[in-house]
Amino acid sequence: MSTQAIASAKEVFDLLRDDLSAIEHELVRDGASTVGAITEIAGYLREGGGKRIRPSLLLLAAKSLGCHGRETIQLGAVVELVHTATLVHDDIIDAAEIRRGRPSANTTWGNSKCVLAGDWLYMQAFRTALEQHNFKVLELLIGLTQQMVEGELLQMELLGRIVGEAEYYDLIYRKTACLFHVSMRLGAALAGTSDEIEEQLGEYGRNLGIAFQIVDDVLDLTASEKLLGKPVASDLREGKATLAVVHAHEHGTARERVLIRKALESPDFQAASHGDVLEILNRHGSVNYALRAAGQYADVARGALAALPDSEYKRALLWMPDFVVARDK
Ligand code: IPE
Ligand code: IPE
Ligand code: MG
Ligand code: MG
Repeated sequence: MSTQAIASAKEVFDLLRDDLSAIEHELVRDGASTVGAITEIAGYLREGGGKRIRPSLLLLAAKSLGCHGRETIQLGAVVELVHTATLVHDDIIDAAEIRRGRPSANTTWGNSKCVLAGDWLYMQAFRTALEQHNFKVLELLIGLTQQMVEGELLQMELLGRIVGEAEYYDLIYRKTACLFHVSMRLGAALAGTSDEIEEQLGEYGRNLGIAFQIVDDVLDLTASEKLLGKPVASDLREGKATLAVVHAHEHGTARERVLIRKALESPDFQAASHGDVLEILNRHGSVNYALRAAGQYADVARGALAALPDSEYKRALLWMPDFVVARDK
């Protein structure tokens, strides 16, 4: 067996190519309803692409433990369906107009239809999961869905004001990292591994997911809409305090702190512009601080794989944290 590290997204994609393609077919099957609007919305989102990180994690977790069966395809589709449902709802909540480089579904079909399509997609995820006849799978998915909804609700309650780091981390665990955690645990559960290995792979997912959302939040502050394929500066506009902003607020002068709070309180940057806030963040090294934090979570994620036997799948899992931290979209 080669001990060479996996070095590129293409190598991981090659490793998972057939399975990811089977998952796409499963998603077509799972996105079909007798009601046209649902099939259209599900199809529109699927064709928009996306990185398919969550199903890739599930596949790698299962395969690294020797499980390659059809159930990995079905549950891979399930975690992508849950993700898709949250995106549909999230774009309504955030009033976002672009997703995956195209007009978001809510701009085309309107909020009401998209709320219902999102609900339908959640239920379709559960219907597909039910085919496993496995209570543990359902328990993980139910806990996950509740955490994600709680995360979005908690976020709404915190809008417009500065938060502490502990609140920030709790929030991003629920809204994002929990799905990474559960994707890994589902893969491990399908392989029928020990509780200990399942927990370690879950820890990998949790830490990777936290790193992932920290970077998503940094990209919202620093990237361009064209590259990102979704709105930028939207967190500030909506009053979401993310890690770099929390750091700058902690380290800023009295005047800077007032400016940051004003930016969070006032929608559409009436009181302080995106540029004003970025200047403060740069003065205090806050973007680098957030990226360093993401790097630390990525390291913890890698460390959680220590007990996993060596394989090309393990090497892909070891590569993933680098990809998540270094990505530009
Ligand atoms: C977007 O997730 C939602 C977040 C949790 C930040 P992704 O960045 O994985 O979205 P796609 O699937 O690649 O479009
Ligand atoms: C991700 O948070 C929350 C989800 C679970 C979809 P964001 O609101 O930052 O996600 P994006 O940036 O819109 O993808
Ligand atoms: Mg959003
Ligand atoms: Mg975001």
